[in-house]
Parts: sequence; C-alpha cells; structure tokens
Amino acid sequence: MSNQLEKVKELIELRAKARIGGGEKAIEKQHERGKYTARERIAMLLDDGSFEEMDMFVEHRCHNFGQEKKSFLGDGVVTGYGTIDGRLIYVFAQDFTVFGGSLSETMALKICKVMDQAMKMGAPVIGINDSGGARIQEGINALAGYAEIFQRNILASGVIPQISGIFGPCAGGAVYSPALTDFTLMMEGTSYMFLTGPKVVKTVTGEDVDQESLGGASVHSTKSGVTHFTAKTEEEGVAMIRRLLSYIPQNNLEEAPFTTCNDPIDRLEDSLNEIIPDSPSLPYDMYNVIAAIVDNGEFLEVQKDYAKNIIIGFARFNGQSVGLVANQPKYLAGVLDSNASRKAGRFVRFCDAFNIPIVSLVDVPGFLPGTGQEYNGVILHGAKLLYAYGEATVPKVTVTLRKSYGGSHIVMSCKQLRGDMNYAWPTAEIAVMGGSGAVEVLYAKEAKESADPAAFAAQKEAEYTKLFANPFNAAKYGYIDDIIEPRNTRFRIIRALQQLQTKKLINPAKKHGNIPL
Ligand code: HXC
Repeated sequence: MSNQLEKVKELIELRAKARIGGGEKAIEKQHERGKYTARERIAMLLDDGSFEEMDMFVEHRCHNFGQEKKSFLGDGVVTGYGTIDGRLIYVFAQDFTVFGGSLSETMALKICKVMDQAMKMGAPVIGINDSGGARIQEGINALAGYAEIFQRNILASGVIPQISGIFGPCAGGAVYSPALTDFTLMMEGTSYMFLTGPKVVKTVTGEDVDQESLGGASVHSTKSGVTHFTAKTEEEGVAMIRRLLSYIPQNNLEEAPFTTCNDPIDRLEDSLNEIIPDSPSLPYDMYNVIAAIVDNGEFLEVQKDYAKNIIIGFARFNGQSVGLVANQPKYLAGVLDSNASRKAGRFVRFCDAFNIPIVSLVDVPGFLPGTGQEYNGVILHGAKLLYAYGEATVPKVTVTLRKSYGGSHIVMSCKQLRGDMNYAWPTAEIAVMGGSGAVEVLYAKEAKESADPAAFAAQKEAEYTKLFANPFNAAKYGYIDDIIEPRNTRFRIIRALQQLQTKKLINPAKKHGNIPL
C-alpha cells in the first residue's frame, strides 16, 4: 500500500472512530434511555445527506483528574452545517455519550465556531442540548466557555434565528443559552431545565421536588413559559423545528420564504358572520376564527399551553408568513394579564426583528385587575406588549372582532401605535370600558337615589351600549380604517398584506430602547 493510501486509510479509520463518540457501550446506554445520539439527531433534522461535519478531530486539553488519559475525537459535541428544505442551517448537538455531553473548553470553541460562521453567512443556528452542564474537571475553563457562547447568543439575537432543542438534561447556568435564543423545544419525559437540581433545592430551601416537577417539559410549557414547544418523541421534535423554520427568514435582512397558496384568497367563510354570541359575556373559540381565515387552516402555535388567554403563532396568508396574535375569549374571557402580555410581547418582537408581518385578532375585555396582578407587576408586563407593538415597524394588520376596551384597546395594535390597517367587524365594541362598569362610575349616586336602582342602571347601561358598543364611533374618527363583513376577513387581510409589502418605516436611531423588563 502506498504511503498516501495508508494515510487515507488512517483518516477513514479516525473518522469512523469519531463517529462513535463515547463508544458503542455509551451509545447503547443512550438508546436504553430512550434517546437518540447527537449524530442520529442531526441526521433526522437536516435534509438527507446534507450534513457536513466540522471539527471532528478536536479533543479536550484538560489534564486535571486524569482527564488526559480519557479523550474522545470531537469531544462532547457534534457541529457543522447542512440544509433544511434546501436552506443553509448551522447546527450543534451535544453528545451525551462523551462525559455526559458536559461542556469543556474545546467544546465551547466548537460551538462558538459554528455560531460565528452562521453570523457571517446569515443563517439560523439550531442547538440540540443534552448535557450534564459544565465539565466539572475543567473548572473555570468550562464556565468561560459558557460565557463565550452566551455572548454570541446575545450578539446573534435579532440577526439570525436561534433555536434550542432540549433533548436531555440542561442544568445550571447552561439553561441561559436556550433562554437567550428565540425558540426552545423540550422533549416530554426525557428533558429538563433548571438552575439547580432537586438535591441542591432540598439543601437550600428544604423543598422536596423531583426533576420533572422542578423543570420538566410540562412545567416549562404550562407554568413558567420557558419553553415554546414540547414534543412526545424526538422524531416529532425535529419535525417541529423544521416546520418552524419554514415560517422564518434566514436572517434579519431577508424575508420569510413565500409558498404557493392553493387556498382561494377570496374564500368566504359564512360561519364567521354568526360566530359572535348574542350575549357579550358568552365566549366563542378564537381557534375557529384562525382556522377559517389562514391558508388551508394551518397554524403553528407557539406556547400553546401557557397563558392561554392569548394565542400566538405562525400562519400564512396567500403564501406569506405572518405572526398571529389573538385574544382567546374562551379562556379568562381573553383578558390581558402579566403572563399573556409577556408571551405576546416577546413574540411581536421576534416577528418585528425578522420582518414577519403581524396580524392581530382582537377581542379583549381589558387588563385583569386585582392584587395578584398588581403585585406581580402587570403594569410593567403590560407595558412590554405595548412597547413591542409600538416599536414594531413590520406591516401590522388588526381586526377587532368584539371587545376592545380601555388600555387593552390601545395595547392590541391600535391605529395610534402605528397599526397600518385596522379593521373591525360590525360586532366590535371599542370604548373606554364596558357598559356596566361605566354606569357604575358615572351614575352610582343617581342610581342609589332613584326609585328602582336596578332599572335605572339597566336603562343607563342600554344608553351607553347603544352609543359605544359598536365600531362606528371609532370609524368616525378614522381610528378604524373600515368595518368589514366577518366572512370576508381572509380576503381583506390578504389585500392589506399585499398593499403593505413595500412598507418602509424606520425608528429613530439610538443605541437601544429601554423596554420595561
Ligand atoms: C463531567 C459529567 C458531568 C459533568 C455528567 N458527567 N455530568 N462529567 N462533568 N458536569 C458524566 C458522568 O460522570 C458519566 O460519566 C456520564 O457523564 C453520564 O452521566 P450519568 O450520571 O451516568 O448519567 P445519568 O444517570 O443519566 O445522569 C445525568 C445527569 C448527571 C443528571 C446529568 O450526570 C448529573 O447530575 N450530572 C451533574 C450535573 C451538574 O450538577 N452539573 C453542573 C451544573 S453547574 P461516565 O464516565 O461514568 O460515563 C453548571 C454551571 C454552568 O453547569 C454555568 C454556566 C454559566
């Protein structure tokens, strides 16, 4: 065999060695845990055969605790690039078979390298997390590695989309990298995220809690809102990430991909002319409205189990990707509270950062009052959503279906927050507050003094409702651009979005604003 052939053979052998990460036994153990390996995950995620690996010969350089005798080619992360639906994507997947995927100095360098490359190329980064955290043997070098990653997450924020898949443990300060990215997806039952595990919790606070109840997917999808998506299987998880990417552009200078729309743009949806109940206190399901108006009824919901009084997610109108924000009258009457405001505020900012138009469907009775909300800082949280809408320069189309009262009317993309096209259904009620509240404030004294206080209040409420519980008052002042037939909503939104395609609006130059955090 020639020298050259021998070298090629050696390369092939080394590559094969690198591809088994921590070894066959560790791979078996990973499979027994019900989890795929880093390479298997990347293969599922990217288009077939598109993955090009980088840095597969990198090894750690730690000499503490006998680490020099234990090293694996590629160390604890697989990195590189490939395509999803033909679009360039950078990816890193922590390899739990190597030191439990724990982060070493060199592993951090590998991750930083793909992030830097993604920034140069203007392409999304997807990180698959499955790690025991900082590699204990490496001490401060592991911490420094995390900090380098966080710094890149921060600088990449709003420039390229960043998506985190949590496919195993993600503990300690390591959780801050996913938290800094745009979207997080957690695996049900096999993943968790927490600042510190159950043992330390017990020591510090005395609280007895298991991993799942402390930081499992169910906790973060319903209680904390830390995760945007959950999946039952890894196959489902990667499919969701692929689907999510189809709605978003490669970077902040590009548009989201347009798709061919085979759903008629002028499709009339008669059911919408009868969807609003006669009684203002009765709910209806906003999901039915969304399904009726978007292309083929397809909607990718974000944070679907968190703050269900507001619905956010991606859909298309005539093939154009939009971010949808909708109050949900079926849950807490669609009221805005702290969690709903935070949830929608962050989503609006994502859409604005990545040139995705925002369509808002409004039916909101107001902000939730009371000590629970005030002590929780609803003023600041509500201001986040207000700030996000007011700051956004992407096309903004708003349709008011029913209630739009007080502060929540303003917050939900009203005309004065630079709403581009603000429509209302004839059932819209746009006013400072609802009828009974208004009568209480305006006529409490007179009602008390009248012979029949209840009848007096009812009469005043009827007067108020006639005057204000309609969209015509707002339309009279041009605050509503048109009152539309509900069944024609899809067509009117599509027309508006077509009109707004060349929109140019630039905020005043500044270092950055000071959003109420
Ligand atoms: C070095 C680690 C490691 C770590 C796991 N391993 N975590 N090696 N540093 N942080 C190794 C294990 O020694 C083991 O090696 C292999 O990975 C698999 O781990 P197991 O414990 O066998 O797996 P499992 O039973 O599934 O438990 C997984 C685990 C547990 C829950 C993640 O390993 C664990 O609790 N690890 C420590 C977590 C932790 O406290 N990390 C530090 C957090 S603080 P062998 O050779 O036996 O296969 C932190 C600070 C970050 O991360 C700050 C950023 C700002």
